[in-house]
Amino acid sequence: MKKARVLVVDDENIIAWTLQEKLIKEGFEVRTVENGESAINSIKEDMPDLAFVDVFLPDIGGIQVLKEIISLNEEIPVIMVTGSGSVDTAVTAMKLGAYDYINKPFNLAEVAIIAKKAIESKRVSREVSWRLEKEKKTHSIGNIIGESKEIKGVLDMIQKIVQSDATTVLIEGESGTGKDLVGRAIHYTSRRSARPFMDINCTALPDTLVESELFGYEKGAFTDAKAKKVGLFELADGGSVLLDEIGDMPIATQTKLLKFIENKRFKRVGGASDIEVDVRIIAATNKNLKEEIKSGKFREDLYYRLKVIPIFIPPLRVRTGDILILANYFINKFNQEFRKDVKGLSSKAEKAILSYQWPGNVRELKNVIERAIILESKDKILIEHLPIEVVEGAPFKEEERQQQSNFTLPENGVPLEEVEKNLLIQALKKANGNQSKAAKLLSLSRYALRYRLKKIGYLKIDSTDSEIIQSV
Ligand SMILES: Nc1ncnc2c1ncn2[C@@H]1O[C@H](COP(=O)(O)OP(=O)(O)O)[C@@H](O)[C@H]1O
Ligand SMILES: [Mg+2]
Repeated sequence: MKKARVLVVDDENIIAWTLQEKLIKEGFEVRTVENGESAINSIKEDMPDLAFVDVFLPDIGGIQVLKEIISLNEEIPVIMVTGSGSVDTAVTAMKLGAYDYINKPFNLAEVAIIAKKAIESKRVSREVSWRLEKEKKTHSIGNIIGESKEIKGVLDMIQKIVQSDATTVLIEGESGTGKDLVGRAIHYTSRRSARPFMDINCTALPDTLVESELFGYEKGAFTDAKAKKVGLFELADGGSVLLDEIGDMPIATQTKLLKFIENKRFKRVGGASDIEVDVRIIAATNKNLKEEIKSGKFREDLYYRLKVIPIFIPPLRVRTGDILILANYFINKFNQEFRKDVKGLSSKAEKAILSYQWPGNVRELKNVIERAIILESKDKILIEHLPIEVVEGAPFKEEERQQQSNFTLPENGVPLEEVEKNLLIQALKKANGNQSKAAKLLSLSRYALRYRLKKIGYLKIDSTDSEIIQSV
């Protein structure tokens, strides 16, 4: 590792020399100057990692040198060296942004510790800002790809939201449409970006845990509460919280959430005192909340409170203009990731992805392209590199359609949807719930079957892409 460089500014030779000896022994590279002017020149020439500055210097005072260093590079920690009886100067220096101060005569062991701490804290703060920059980059609005009017509408809405600092946002859209992506982009483009972003998936947690995760609890609030726990809202103070799958939030927690949104304060579970925090709530759902309200599972007042600013991300199948743009974006991305040089899609492959319904939306498209890039290394993505359900697109093959034609319509007619539902359920029963077998019975791809099951509400895919099958 490169040695950390220290600048020592002191006109008393004996002090400068003692400091220098000790710091060199501790592994630092040291440069010493005797007055303020040389100190400033030296810093301009060669930024040190740390500076020791005596407050009494023959020309410019140490406080002035401190100000200059901070204006040149506020990241350099400055440790002031003060004589006894200059407490006021030390306080002034700290207020101006000095990292610390040491009193003469000083303890050399202590000096070494302070120097190391200063360097370490600078390294940590650099790392934090580097990480934040990276987070901002990976979650910026620029990563939301699409040219359709629908996506442009979403982007416009995000711009408006990030300008108004405090508003609550509701993001609606099917699984895989980009709700997480949009939620993060809102946080990382807003003024809150330097503060935490937290997210919680209400489906993934048992009902009893959602409330204590969000609001925290006091020691002894319930049997297992052996110690106090700080909740997400407190941890995210100043930042944003994404409440994913809010449709699955237990009713009691919804009530507490509504109160919190209105008063900006809450009590920990089992707590007596109010805690005030400032967070932006971003709620996301793939459920139709209006339906949930009708069936009594979601509070109507909370819905309208969240919906002050709504963002609806339409499914990919209604914005077909985005399909090829996204596909090429992912080709590029995975080419880089897997060091490949795939040139694009063949015209057949292009046609297939354009006519497919994408029930899993952008997430599914991304996975399909990732797989194709793994299978193909340099030329174009061919139809063979695509999963069967994408290629099949149309569910029936011609010969099978012929066989179906001996179906007779009942005398009084029947709604087609009912016939379909009936047959889907029959097939699943006959196949003992095995989806591939049921699909075969209906000459459907497994994917097409799943799509249909989803449409009639027998199959729900949650945000982690695991499925919840309703009993048939
Ligand atoms: N418009 C888009 N541009 C680029 N990537 C997208 C877009 N929409 C979704 N994605 C990607 O698709 C995947 C699923 O998106 P996600 O935000 O997790 O969806 P959701 O939360 O709605 O289920 C993620 O990898 C995301 O980055
Ligand atoms: Mg999600």
